[in-house]
Amino acid sequence: MGTFKKLKMYYWPYKKYFILSMSFLILITAITVVYPMILQLTIDDVVLQKKYSWIPYLSIGFVFIMAIKGVATFINQYMGDLFGIFSVYKLRNSLYEKLQFLPFKYYDNAKTGDLMSRLTADVEGVRFFLSYGFTELLRFIILIIISVIVMCYYSVPLTVVTLITLPFLAIVVYKFDKAVHPAFRGIRKSFGRLNTNVQENISGINTVKSLSRENFQTDKFNDSNGDYKVQNLSTSFIWAKYFPLMEFLGNISVVVLLGFGGYLVIKGSMHPGELVAFYSLVWYIIWPIVNLGFVINMFSQAKASGERLLEVLEADNMIEDQSLPIYEEKVIGEVEFKNVTLRYEQDAKDALYDISFKAMPGQVIGLIGSTGAGKTSITQLMTRFYEPSDGEVLIDGKKVSDYSIRALRRSIGFVLQESFLFSTTIKENISYGRPEATMDEIIDAAKRAQAHEFILELPDGYDTVLGERGMGLSGGQKQRIAIARAICVNPSIIILDDATSAVDMETELEIQKALTEVMKGRTTFIIAHRISSLKHADEIIVLEDGRIKERGVHEYLIKNNGLYQRIYEIQFKDYQTVLSSITG
Ligand code: UTP
Ligand code: MG
Repeated sequence: MGTFKKLKMYYWPYKKYFILSMSFLILITAITVVYPMILQLTIDDVVLQKKYSWIPYLSIGFVFIMAIKGVATFINQYMGDLFGIFSVYKLRNSLYEKLQFLPFKYYDNAKTGDLMSRLTADVEGVRFFLSYGFTELLRFIILIIISVIVMCYYSVPLTVVTLITLPFLAIVVYKFDKAVHPAFRGIRKSFGRLNTNVQENISGINTVKSLSRENFQTDKFNDSNGDYKVQNLSTSFIWAKYFPLMEFLGNISVVVLLGFGGYLVIKGSMHPGELVAFYSLVWYIIWPIVNLGFVINMFSQAKASGERLLEVLEADNMIEDQSLPIYEEKVIGEVEFKNVTLRYEQDAKDALYDISFKAMPGQVIGLIGSTGAGKTSITQLMTRFYEPSDGEVLIDGKKVSDYSIRALRRSIGFVLQESFLFSTTIKENISYGRPEATMDEIIDAAKRAQAHEFILELPDGYDTVLGERGMGLSGGQKQRIAIARAICVNPSIIILDDATSAVDMETELEIQKALTEVMKGRTTFIIAHRISSLKHADEIIVLEDGRIKERGVHEYLIKNNGLYQRIYEIQFKDYQTVLSSITG
């Protein structure tokens, strides 16, 4: 029950629905047991005594009781549903909110498909149990208890004899549960794989098509789909066997009942109507036991789902606002690293080691180095996407951890190698970081990002809705919208991480122009592979294996006889070769 205890804060506020639902459930169950008693009354006291005048009253009474049961059932079901729906509404919102605030570190190890299925299927699993599972379980228990009491009231010996077979039913239920539980887990796992397959395929459709691996993908899907089918078939086989077997066992108990009961009636120690009532009551005990497997299953599924949800809900935020002095104001833009070391995992090697530098407001810092050298890592420490393992990151002389996360991220803008655009209007994509921006500000940002002109050529201009992942725009156009988005926020610090590497030379020129606009008056960090992009920087930091190898201005570094000079020569020679091949 630990799981449901931990989730209590989500469903307990709605306990009034639950309590209402339960109260009416007790009423319904009581009425259910009245049926056989009316039957007994009709047979023993009316039919056999030939009191025909009673029949209209009995009929009217019966209809009346049924009407009450109908209303009670309605309230029971509706309130049960409300209980589940409200609880899950709250739960799902909390999950989504949690996902927004989980650190990058969490996403490093999480799979999209898996998180999606937690937010959908697992939440539904919990809802189903809250709405129906609880109720069913309680209904079974109440039904069995009341039925046994009424049966004992009619005849204790017959009750004992009839219930003798029930332990066998319980054994089958137990065995069934053992078999069907792993089978269901198999289905869920297999469905998860199927989901991941589809999700990755759609996200990676460009790669699939450009390498013409459509058939491979189809085959792969066929495999997962086939696996899912097999899982379902085997579960279906277990299910199909279960009910007939249970009914057969139940009927054995009925045979015992009819044999011994018939004997009692003939002997005169029991009325015929009582035997008929007994027959109905026995099924009120058998069916709950039969269905117990189902409910147990629902419970264990809901429990498993609840555990998966708790894993997300209880995941460590790791990076949180401090409770004490927090700087809310926007920063001016001085960035200083003091002996910063970063390790992504406890036992991994240092991604950054002993990094120190200082950037004054408005300065441009270039970061260069081979792939994996740690360039991106440096920038991610400024926004506290990750925390340094050692050393300090200061902005305007104050530790980044003393700023509120919001203030920090409002002050630092990013333009990445590939920017994500949402499937909404261009206008909303540009003002994403500052939703209150006016149309004039949006247009101004677009103009400065060299995007205004092509946006106007689109069918609906600024109101054009983009397809998923910015489909329908070229790489360069997407990039310029991302730059406009960064300008719109008006950050004091801007980070350009490989912002021009995904586009061709010609577009690069356009983007360079846009970037020059962005950089005006802001502390800028440019990460680039091409020296041409950062040779005007106030300081260039050359990284290798997470350490600073060289630093200085371009003119100094090209004479330094180090890594930078080598990169420069390679790129410069390339350029010369191209040039000479064009000019002949
Ligand atoms: P970076 O991501 O900082 O490298 O990773 P980079 O210089 O920007 O590289 P490119 O040019 O974009 O390719 C630095 C080191 O940190 C590790 C990487 O494996 C790399 O060795 N790393 C990075 C992690 O362990 N986990 C991460 O989430 C990111
Ligand atoms: Mg990088």
